[in-house]
Amino acid sequence: MPLARALGLVDTRFGIARVLGDEGRDLVTEYYRQAAFGFRQVHSRDGCMHMALNPDGQFDRAGYLGQADSVAAEIAATGAGRVLELGCGVGFNSLHLARAMPDVEFVGLDLLKRHVTEARQAARGMGNITFRQGSFEALAPEAGAQFDLVFAVECLCHARDLDALAHSVAGVLRPGGRLIVYDGYRTAPLEALPDDIATATRLTEVAMVVADGFRPLPAWDTALAGAGLKRLATGDLTPQVRPTTQRLQRLATKFFMEGLTPALARAFLPQYLLRNAVAGLLMPYLIAPEGGSLNYLRLVVGKPGAST
Ligand SMILES: C[S@@+](CC[C@H](N)C(=O)[O-])C[C@H]1O[C@@H](n2cnc3c(N)ncnc32)[C@H](O)[C@@H]1O
Repeated sequence: MPLARALGLVDTRFGIARVLGDEGRDLVTEYYRQAAFGFRQVHSRDGCMHMALNPDGQFDRAGYLGQADSVAAEIAATGAGRVLELGCGVGFNSLHLARAMPDVEFVGLDLLKRHVTEARQAARGMGNITFRQGSFEALAPEAGAQFDLVFAVECLCHARDLDALAHSVAGVLRPGGRLIVYDGYRTAPLEALPDDIATATRLTEVAMVVADGFRPLPAWDTALAGAGLKRLATGDLTPQVRPTTQRLQRLATKFFMEGLTPALARAFLPQYLLRNAVAGLLMPYLIAPEGGSLNYLRLVVGKPGAST
């Protein structure tokens, strides 16, 4: 379907102006509260809240472990003994790692009490993993630099203050420690994009409660450098997440074409859960290997010191 038609469907069902009216608002807590049901039902019954990595171009749930498995390889290569996951959700990645690596100690941190409670329940009986509630923009500095490796899957996009976040992470990383990030980034300023792509990008960001939009990589580099951190490696995984975006688009298209009438849908389902359909419909136009407005990257960031 041409992008203009997709935008027309979004306008009819949700009102583009109404959705964009939420631009810049901090809706993270409310969104995840409302969307929990949908994540479990549609995305992953095991509590994964990120894109699958599918290098062969076909959607496969096994790819939900792609990020954690590559973190496992980094832990093995660096001999990390204490690992912190930021924005861990209900613990999907860290629980998998903690089961596979019993000699490594894992800590998961999430903003939402509800996520932390669910993660703790799933971790019952495991001795090498704990979960804490808090913001990654304000990691307790008194705890000191205690982690060899920090990782974050599709959550730092929610940060409001990149400088605070970078200092916060730098404060808990040991010298020579590493931060691994999987997330989306804008490939170009909105002003440089065609109007329809720019509008679709903004709608997708609002639907995913990325209040300040996916920042471009240079903005991250500046914040990281200000905290004494340095990007060491960058992997472009955009083609690997395309199958997830295409799957979500198929589901969203069904919703837009055949689903509940807007009145019924609005009456029975919370609005931020429903708005996932906006991101689902639009993402494949944006997260594209060539000419898209968003890409999906794996960053390896280092803190100078002993083993960097
Ligand atoms: C898309 S989910 C990803 C969850 C998990 N990383 C995964 O891969 O399944 C983003 C998570 O980031 C969390 N989050 C958002 N802002 C946060 C903050 N300031 N501090 C800690 N967690 C945050 C949300 O509560 C949510 O659980």
